[in-house]
Amino acid sequence: MTRTTIIAANWKMNGDLTLVDQMSTALNNIEVAENVKVVVCPSFPFLAALTDKITHDQVYTGAQNMSEHEKGAYTGEVASQMLTNLSVQYVILGHSERRSYYGETSDLVADKVKVALNAGLTPILCIGESEQERTSGQTEQVLVSQLQPVIDAIGINAFKDVVVAYEPVWAIGTGKTASPEMAQETHAFIRDYFAQHNESVAQQLPLLYGGSMNGANCENLLAQADIDGGLIGGASLKVDEFPVICSTAKGI
Ligand code: PGA
Repeated sequence: MTRTTIIAANWKMNGDLTLVDQMSTALNNIEVAENVKVVVCPSFPFLAALTDKITHDQVYTGAQNMSEHEKGAYTGEVASQMLTNLSVQYVILGHSERRSYYGETSDLVADKVKVALNAGLTPILCIGESEQERTSGQTEQVLVSQLQPVIDAIGINAFKDVVVAYEPVWAIGTGKTASPEMAQETHAFIRDYFAQHNESVAQQLPLLYGGSMNGANCENLLAQADIDGGLIGGASLKVDEFPVICSTAKGI
């Protein structure tokens, strides 16, 4: 079973038009393995410019969030159709910063995933445990509590159009990466959980690791059997580092 490898950049609330120019130029010239896709997710104001500048056929753009509503009087929100109107193809949903700073629950995230799929976007669904949850042995229970509402909302078969990113909260932006072995063990648990619902969906689901992945540690992480790519924050803002991570990904 061939799974797509995805290297995704989450710029968070960083970057400017200069970065849009520099990163698009760098990425338009990268060499990546055949079944590798690169997805760059800048803040909303830069999505149109970045999408217009990308010419590489393995490089895509994505949003970092979107509304659970399709349209209407929701001041300050961005609708799924607005993203597809710009030819944006991916959307990060349920990032831990959205869950913890903006109170997004797993039920709300499930609604957003459903709306994204209806619009034809590919959701990058983020899940992950806090440090306290890991040390108290609750990791698997937390991951299930984040996944199951989405499985209930969209049905297991719809996951053939979803990407899941496992991002341990304690590893995000901290420089503390999960060891390749620990990440692999958790990824295997997640894939197995999907396999209990549907084996073929589980086998083709891209499972990304996120949390302080960078040019130095990506090779060992990406070499793990159940790690199919990365969701990268800090290192994705570096024009001399992110393209190297993309080229390191060998695909499966
Ligand atoms: P980081 O962020 O690579 O800076 O740890 C990853 C993420 O939050 O998606």
